[in-house]
Amino acid sequence: MKNIIVTGGAGFIGSNFVHYVVKNHPDVHVTVLDKLTYAGNEANLAGLPKDRVELVVGDIADFELVDQLVAKTDAVVHYAAESHNDNSLKDPFPFVQTNLIGTYVLLEACRKYKVRYHHVSTDEVYGDLPLREDLPGHGEGEGEKFTDKTPYNPSSPYSSTKAGSDLLVRAWVRSFGLQATISNCSNNYGPYQHIEKFIPRQITNVLMGIKPKLYGEGKNVRDWIHTNDHSSAVWTILTKGEIGETYLIGADGEEDNKTVMEMILTAMSQPKDAYDHVTDRAGHDLRYAIDSTKLREELGWQPEFTNFESGLKDTIQWYTDNKDWWIAEKEAVENSYAKNGQ
Ligand code: NAD
Ligand code: DAU
Repeated sequence: MKNIIVTGGAGFIGSNFVHYVVKNHPDVHVTVLDKLTYAGNEANLAGLPKDRVELVVGDIADFELVDQLVAKTDAVVHYAAESHNDNSLKDPFPFVQTNLIGTYVLLEACRKYKVRYHHVSTDEVYGDLPLREDLPGHGEGEGEKFTDKTPYNPSSPYSSTKAGSDLLVRAWVRSFGLQATISNCSNNYGPYQHIEKFIPRQITNVLMGIKPKLYGEGKNVRDWIHTNDHSSAVWTILTKGEIGETYLIGADGEEDNKTVMEMILTAMSQPKDAYDHVTDRAGHDLRYAIDSTKLREELGWQPEFTNFESGLKDTIQWYTDNKDWWIAEKEAVENSYAKNGQ
C-alpha cells in the first residue's frame, strides 16, 4: 500500500492517524480528504512533509471529487464524520448527510475502482451496557462487554448514522465483493481533540478559570483509549485484517465520568470537587466497554499507552502548551452549551 486516502484526516483521530503513518511507514503517501468543518483544522497537519501528505479540501459526498481521488489510490481509510452526540441532538441533518450519504459515495467509488476500504466506526453502534455494579459478579462474566457479535442498538442520531454506515459497508462486501474491513473503537483521548468533547472541555475550562461541567451525577462509564493506540490498531487491521470482518478496538480503560473529572482537577492542582453538575444529555448512554480479544489474538495487536493517568497528564500539558490552537473557539463552544443548561 503506497498511496492511501484518509478522509477526515484534519480532525482529531484522523490527524493523529496521519502523524502515525508518516512516522512509522516512510514509504506511504497520504492524501487527506477533509471538508474542514468546525471540527477540521489544517493546523493539525502542520509540520508534516509536503511530499508525504497532501490536503484536499472537499466533501466526501462530492461524487466527482471522490471518483477522481479514489481512481488513483490503493486504499481509503474513512474517518470523516460528524462526530459529536450533543450536536446530533440539536441538528441531526449533517449527521445523516455526511455519515450516511458521504459513506455511500466512498463505497461506490471503492467498488468501481476495486480499492481496499477501511471503515472507522464507534462502539456506540451497540447502544449501552448496564453499570458493572448492577451486574451479577460485577460484570466480569461473558456478554458484559461489547464484541463483534453484540446486536446493533444505537441511541442517538450520531450513533444511529454510524450504525447505518456500518451496515452499508457490510452490504457492499456481501453484494458487491468490496474489499472492506470495519473497526469499532471506544472513546479516544489525546492531542488535537476538539474542545466540545469531555476531556478537552474540562481541561480548557480549568485553564480559563471556568468551572468544569459534569453531566448528571457522572456515573456514566466510558472505555478510554489513547488515540495513538487507535492508530496502530487501524493500521494493523488495514494491513492484516480479514476482508469482511469487524474488529473491536479497546484498551481496557473503563472509568466513570466523575472519576475522570476528579483526575483532571487533581492533575491541574484544583480541589477535586471544583466542578458544576449540569443538565444531563438526553438519552445518555450509561456504559461502554470493549472486548478486543479478536483483534489481539487474531491480528496480534497490543495497546501501548495504557497508563490513563499519565496519558491524561500529557494531554493536559498539550492543551496548556497549545492555547493558540483552541482559544478562539472557547467562548462560542461554552455559549452554545450554556443555552442547553450545560
Ligand atoms: P472529529 O469531529 O474530530 O473530526 C471529523 C473530521 O471529519 C473533521 O476534520 C471534519 O472536517 C471532517 N469532515 C466532516 N464532515 C466531512 C465531509 N462531509 N467531508 C469531508 N470531511 C468531513 O471526529 P473524530 O473524533 O476525530 O472521529 C473520527 C472518526 O472516528 C469518526 O468516524 C468517529 O465516528 C470515529 N470514532 C471516534 C471516536 C472518538 O472517541 N472520538 C471513537 C470511535 C470512533
Ligand atoms: O465511544 C466512542 C464515542 O466517544 C465516539 O463515537 C464519539 O465520536 C465521541 O465523541 C465519544 O462520544 P461520547 O459522547 O462518549 O464523548 P463526549 O466526549 O461527548 O462525552 C464523554 C462523556 O462525558 C459522556 O458520558 C458525556 C459526558 N460529558 C460530556 C461533556 C462534553 C460531561 O459529563 N460533560 C461534558 O461537558
